[in-house]
Amino acid sequence: MRLIIAVDGPAAAGKGTLAKSLAAALRLPHLDTGLLYRAVARQMILAGLDPAQDAGETIAQRLQPDDLTRSDLRVPEIDRGASAVATQPAVRAALLRRQRDFATASGAVIDGRDIGTVVFPDADLKLFVTASAPVRALRRFQQLHGDAPPDRDALARLTEEIETRDRKDAERPVSPLRRAEDALLVETDHLDAGAVLDHVLGLVRARFPS
Ligand code: CDP
Ligand code: CDP
Repeated sequence: MRLIIAVDGPAAAGKGTLAKSLAAALRLPHLDTGLLYRAVARQMILAGLDPAQDAGETIAQRLQPDDLTRSDLRVPEIDRGASAVATQPAVRAALLRRQRDFATASGAVIDGRDIGTVVFPDADLKLFVTASAPVRALRRFQQLHGDAPPDRDALARLTEEIETRDRKDAERPVSPLRRAEDALLVETDHLDAGAVLDHVLGLVRARFPS
């Protein structure tokens, strides 16, 4: 059976963590599509281009698998650059086939912003993973700084950055961040990553008994 699972949601909700562990549990390949937009933004910046002003289409067309595994893709400049370049219809079009072609004969787990709405509108299961902005900011802080005690200013800054990016992603005309009508809402404010995985595996097994 071919199983395509779409995981969408706002920044730092735990989409990637869920998608990766779900894919491992179901033995499916996993694609984090945010990395595609991040890699385009990174290469534009390195080439002296501005992701908010200059066309990123050619770079998007030429992206190589190695470009997605760089260690410097998760820095604030690239958070903003990815969100800016993601508003360009030609960039999104250039990345669309690559995302669709990723699914194998057995399927895939794919996470991003528009997977259930645009990339795989016929996905077998669609999840929209959310948490409140302060919870997501704390998760991102801990992801970046480990157990370091979070100070109020840093958390306020991260919350603001996350909210600004969510707003931009939700308000852009092309492929905005939104929950597909048939996506199941997964509220994670009070669940750790393991509990979210267990919950979703329960949904998968109920819907697709093997
Ligand atoms: O992909 P996305 O930006 O939505 O989030 P992520 O990078 O998968 O997760 C952000 C951080 O939240 C990671 O350090 C996770 O371990 C943590 N986390 C989670 O993913 N799920 C929870 N329910 C709670 C925390
Ligand atoms: O990990 P986090 O949720 O912070 O971000 P990401 O998933 O790596 O995505 C970075 C940016 O790429 C997002 O803010 C979106 O602007 C864009 N993106 C998108 O437009 N469509 C996708 N399918 C995935 C990411």
